[in-house]
Amino acid sequence: MKKFQKKNLSHSSKLWLTRQLNDPLVSEAKKLNYRSRAIFKLIEINEKHKFLKNNQNIIDLGAAPGSWSQYSSKINKDGYNIAMDLLKIDPIANCKIVTGDFTEDQVKEKLIKGTKGEKFDVVLSDIAENSTGNRSLDAMRSNAISLQVMIFALKYLKKNGSILIKTFSGTGNQEVVDFVKNNFTKHLFIKPNSSRKESKELYLYSVL
Ligand SMILES: C[S@@+](CC[C@H](N)C(=O)[O-])C[C@H]1O[C@@H](n2cnc3c(N)ncnc32)[C@H](O)[C@@H]1O
Repeated sequence: MKKFQKKNLSHSSKLWLTRQLNDPLVSEAKKLNYRSRAIFKLIEINEKHKFLKNNQNIIDLGAAPGSWSQYSSKINKDGYNIAMDLLKIDPIANCKIVTGDFTEDQVKEKLIKGTKGEKFDVVLSDIAENSTGNRSLDAMRSNAISLQVMIFALKYLKKNGSILIKTFSGTGNQEVVDFVKNNFTKHLFIKPNSSRKESKELYLYSVL
């Protein structure tokens, strides 16, 4: 196997690696057997709003490497859990995995098959587009996907079902705000304590 050498990495990859190695939440997640530090955002929001329960249909979009689904599948131990991502996700107990692009219609059809005609109780989405380096463009592209997730949720979420969706402050966020106000009963934009300060991400928690 080729030996890993930090000097062969690009400047941004070096920065990312240094930040990962020095981040206490990365090691804390590992200790707890979660695959990503992203887990602490879901735990914080769920502990406050308690929307993940047993016997639900839960879908996790943009789920790789899988910490959110590890957590929600444990809570929803007798229900149906499905996780999807562009990237391959290693198996998770009690969770169906789908690999594909959420923006494709055939992939969306695959996602709704496993519930045997029932709708979802919870739609989670931590989908983030790869950064282009242009913050305004990144926010616009990511909010465009968040809107697609909300349109999906409007169609496939049960009445009183919950969504937790990553959005970004900046370009395109107003469309997300308008959509949620017009179609959902309540909404909160949350910046979890574990979200990096420099990140523009804001989690939208809402109920249909
Ligand atoms: C921040 S990570 C998710 C971390 C995850 N919540 C966890 O706990 O492990 C964002 C993910 O969104 C995925 N993603 C981006 N665009 C996507 C798309 N169009 N369809 C599916 N997944 C997508 C990326 O591949 C990436 O794995």
